[in-house]
Amino acid sequence: MHDVLILAAHPDLAHSRVHRTLFDTLRRAEAGGPVRWSLRDLYALYPDYLIDVAAEQAALASAQLVVWLHPIHWYGMPPLMKLWCDEVLAFGWAYGPGGQALAGKDLWLVVSTGGTDASYSPTGHNRHFIDAFWPPYEQTAALCGMRFLPPAVLHGAHRAGDGEIAAHAEVIADRLLRYPDWPEIDDLPPCVPCDTPAGERPLPEP
Ligand SMILES: Cc1cc2nc3c(=O)[nH]c(=O)nc-3n(C[C@H](O)[C@H](O)[C@H](O)COP(=O)(O)O)c2cc1C
Repeated sequence: MHDVLILAAHPDLAHSRVHRTLFDTLRRAEAGGPVRWSLRDLYALYPDYLIDVAAEQAALASAQLVVWLHPIHWYGMPPLMKLWCDEVLAFGWAYGPGGQALAGKDLWLVVSTGGTDASYSPTGHNRHFIDAFWPPYEQTAALCGMRFLPPAVLHGAHRAGDGEIAAHAEVIADRLLRYPDWPEIDDLPPCVPCDTPAGERPLPEP
């Protein structure tokens, strides 16, 4: 039984600094801690992109908090994480009629960006605050009945020093160890209900 399921997706972990540190720190911190978690390294599990949907859905069942941990690639998620959404968040399971499997769970996005904090502003070269890139994630969570927790972002990953990266990883581990006792959680609005209208698509053949 895991309280927290971390779905981690980095396409090139051998050349990563941020995620390698996060993976190591999170694996170490879990041992003996008050909150149990499991880290599923999607690129290690599915190097051929053949996702075991039943195994992924089973892993989600016992988690109250689901974490998506990945570098920002082209202002969104890496391709295997996207494929995971396409296949695991199935109609009738995660959303739509009868799709209640994830309802009431929390989703926390933990990401890093190459762009600095300043670059994510109307005057920076990324032209938008980082929050402008969250709606597809937030709405995915909402459609599945999940509460979208405020994302954790490490900006300027290329230029971050080892100490900064290590400190960031410790903060993330500490938050997981304290989940769900986070000060901001009680102030979050409840998840908006997003029922898919029954007639939106034909029901499967009996
Ligand atoms: C294919 C690709 C696309 C990327 N797209 C973005 C992007 O849209 N915005 C951004 O700020 N950084 C982008 N980056 C930089 C990554 O976010 C950065 O390398 C990563 O967060 C560093 O984490 P790591 O040390 O674990 O690899 C991109 C990197 C790659 C390889």
